[in-house]
Amino acid sequence: MSSAGGTGKSTVAVNTAYQLARMGKTTTLVDCDPNGSLALFTGLEDPSAGQTLAHVLSPSDFKGDWPLFPIWEDKISGVSACLGGLPLYEAVKRIDQEPRGVYLLSDALEDHPLKHDVLIFDCPGTIERYHELALAACTHVLIVLHPNTKAINAGFKLIDWVYQYRSKLRLNPPPQILGIVPNAYQKDAAMHRNHMGEGVADESETLPTILQSLPDPIKLFDPIRETRLLGNAADYGLPLGIYRPGEGINTVFESIAQEIAHNLTGEI
Ligand SMILES: Nc1ncnc2c1ncn2[C@@H]1O[C@H](COP(=O)(O)OP(=O)(O)OP(=O)(O)O)[C@@H](O)[C@H]1O
Ligand SMILES: [Mg+2]
Repeated sequence: MSSAGGTGKSTVAVNTAYQLARMGKTTTLVDCDPNGSLALFTGLEDPSAGQTLAHVLSPSDFKGDWPLFPIWEDKISGVSACLGGLPLYEAVKRIDQEPRGVYLLSDALEDHPLKHDVLIFDCPGTIERYHELALAACTHVLIVLHPNTKAINAGFKLIDWVYQYRSKLRLNPPPQILGIVPNAYQKDAAMHRNHMGEGVADESETLPTILQSLPDPIKLFDPIRETRLLGNAADYGLPLGIYRPGEGINTVFESIAQEIAHNLTGEI
């Protein structure tokens, strides 16, 4: 999740899914965004309405026939996607109409579980019904933000929202915040360096210190630097790990994948 558009949610989702698969964890990416950019990022064609998450959110039609598409099959096994896109604009109305509203996704997963080790829900840029739907169905929330003052402030509001909403929905166990990923970090931007606590005299106002001193400390992942490589890889529908396996940024996605694997429960 993030509280702004274009922060790198889909980029992080796709690359983390690839790293999880490399670790042997089968992973499904679920596009909860009516923009549907996951199709592009994974090299898939735009699906028909019946082949998207919208189908899963239709209790009268969905009988466990998850519309899953394998991705990057010639390079790696165990990653698939459930796509989003325009049909989600219609499907969102069901959240208001159906008695189980925001639990539609959670119910679908409970009634018709997927066998995959990890599901990653890629959310839209602003907090709306699909955030609620994803929160009700998830175990952990990963927040992606640009390391600037406005985005960080918005990030803290999102954290508050997660805490408030999970208790409003009485989610049990409550979803945890897996961590924060600063994305598009620019080493030559003083504001970015200051927020990350690099070379500052007073560390009290920096992101690492603030997150560590919260009553419930939140993990801060290493920043992902700004680079056109990520956009280039996405243009080919590939994760960076396939497009440029030797690129150092892959280690950040690896560490996110490790943190997820570390938190997996119900391992068989
Ligand atoms: N570290 C980075 N450096 C440079 N470009 C990046 C970086 N991360 C992501 N991008 C590019 O920024 C754009 C937005 O990224 P992405 O689509 O992942 O964001 P998003 O948060 O999913 O956006 P939306 O809110 O629209 O879903 C894409 O073109 C992507 O390739
Ligand atoms: Mg996106």
